Amino acid sequence: MRSRDVSKPLSTNPHLRKWVQKMAELTQPAAIHWVDGSQGEYDALCAQMVESGTFIKLNEQLWPGCYYARSDAGDVARVEDRTYVCSLSRDSAGPTNHWVDPFEMRRKLKTLFSGAMAGRTMYVLPFSMGPVGSPMAQIGVQLTDSPYVVVSMRIMARIGLPVFREIDREAKRVVPCLHSVGAPLRPGQKDVPWPCKPEKYIVHFPESREIWSYGSGYGGNALLGKKCFALRIASNMARDEGWMAEHMLILGVENPQGEKTYVAAAFPSACGKTNFAMLVPPAAFQGWKVWTVGDDIAWLRPDANGRLRAINPESGFFGVVPGTSVKTNPNAMAALAKNTIFTNVALTPEGGVWWEGMTETPPSECLDWQGRPWTPALARETGAKAAHPNARFTAPASQCPTIDPDWEKPEGVPISAIVFGGRRATTMPLVYQAFNWSAGVYMGATMGSEMTAAAAGALGKVRRDPFAMLPFCGYHMGDYFRHWIKMQRSLSETPRIFHVNWFRKDAEGRFLWPGFSDNMRVLKWIVDRARGRALGRETPIGWQPRYEDLEWKGLEFSRETFDALQSFDRSAWRSEIIGHEELFIDLHSHLPKELIYERELLICRM
Ligand code: OXD
Ligand code: MN
Repeated sequence: MRSRDVSKPLSTNPHLRKWVQKMAELTQPAAIHWVDGSQGEYDALCAQMVESGTFIKLNEQLWPGCYYARSDAGDVARVEDRTYVCSLSRDSAGPTNHWVDPFEMRRKLKTLFSGAMAGRTMYVLPFSMGPVGSPMAQIGVQLTDSPYVVVSMRIMARIGLPVFREIDREAKRVVPCLHSVGAPLRPGQKDVPWPCKPEKYIVHFPESREIWSYGSGYGGNALLGKKCFALRIASNMARDEGWMAEHMLILGVENPQGEKTYVAAAFPSACGKTNFAMLVPPAAFQGWKVWTVGDDIAWLRPDANGRLRAINPESGFFGVVPGTSVKTNPNAMAALAKNTIFTNVALTPEGGVWWEGMTETPPSECLDWQGRPWTPALARETGAKAAHPNARFTAPASQCPTIDPDWEKPEGVPISAIVFGGRRATTMPLVYQAFNWSAGVYMGATMGSEMTAAAAGALGKVRRDPFAMLPFCGYHMGDYFRHWIKMQRSLSETPRIFHVNWFRKDAEGRFLWPGFSDNMRVLKWIVDRARGRALGRETPIGWQPRYEDLEWKGLEFSRETFDALQSFDRSAWRSEIIGHEELFIDLHSHLPKELIYERELLICRM
């Protein structure tokens, strides 16, 4: 087969072609490659990265179609302190975002990007967030000098020719995304396996709907369809157009009668979102099935009948690997068994991968995420980890055994319940239901989670993370709360809203709830409540199940432990509400009055 001339534009759209030319003049790449999104192109780019040392091809027998990458040691996670929302006014970005005057930022970016792609290829990568052609989908074009980004984006989003066709139809506004690892090459200079720059900039211009990302190759900073577009920019679009862009998983619960109920759920990081999205019901739940629509992001929009519908704008999973095993998440393990890109896990002598928590017995030796020899004895002596705690897998969603047959439905799936959750050792019961929509918005707005080792700060201290959107809301958080309140007006049927906490502990610090599969018991109550057929009791904070309202088949769980798990502690809630107030003071000038009233009502009920 004759190979195509990749420098030939694949779009006839004059605006796109002009912008590509302008950005090429700024960044000075050695070549331009228009991405068609084909398998042949993907294979060729992977082979090129194996050649250059960015990728190692894994053992084809053990890990078919899989590749392995090690990042630079300083480029392993999202950089919240280098993430900017540059709206025209500081007030629009709000106190939870880093803001820089957009004119000043543009000047800075022009300097940074000037000649930034020298010696490299600039890829013109069109992508659709959501199924191509779906009325709920949005389109972007990312210019990037990273082939790692191109192949990762082919898993995480719909890319290539069908998207160029959409752009040529001028059916939708295109979000321009410029990305450079910030490491130009001089003639003859040898490249490194993971080029990047210590000084990173992840910049959003909400009014002009633009993204500029500089200095990082890490997924959350560089796969611009994900956090930058599908959350920060999309939250702005959603506010203006009457829909919602949320940091939520979507799952479908099917009962033995074949009735399916969809639930969207927001949890801060390190609370088991991917596990929940791929939940395996306990053996005693014969005939029940949980289907996965998405594990990270949901776009929700009222349909013509006022029913809230959701799509997963992504087409892959970019999941944390450590802790994932056939015990904790067999469906994720099946999804990542082939055609997956692993970043920053350990490499075994057979050309396979390993990470902490994958198997009970570690390999007797391997190379760690930085390529250094690692043994279990070394780990015992020094605590050295084989895989970086934020090591990731990038796997096609279609490979997940529980992927919902309707996960790519252009109109999305109907959402009956919304769940919020966090990691809380005290105070928060296993589950409760908000009295109504505005009480539910209050619940989401005041969500908190104890800080884990993953984030800097006092371990165990509760960090408020409203709607799990703290690092992802692209405008003022108070206005975002108002948008949630307003959404009810366009819904004929409001989803019921719940809060869950899998992490409550007893006085000795032991978890009270087994979690994982047994979360199905809670999910069943949620679905039954949403469908108006389960009982509960009214408490000062909302509706709670009584012991007899949960299905206990196959689990011995005492009424006493359940009561401890569900208990309402007045003095703990007193401190909790003071914690809500700290957040509300920061957002005060934009806080909708409904939330102030909800707080008052809560205090009155107590
Ligand atoms: C993610 C995150 O990677 O939330 O999904 O940080
Ligand atoms: Mn996330």
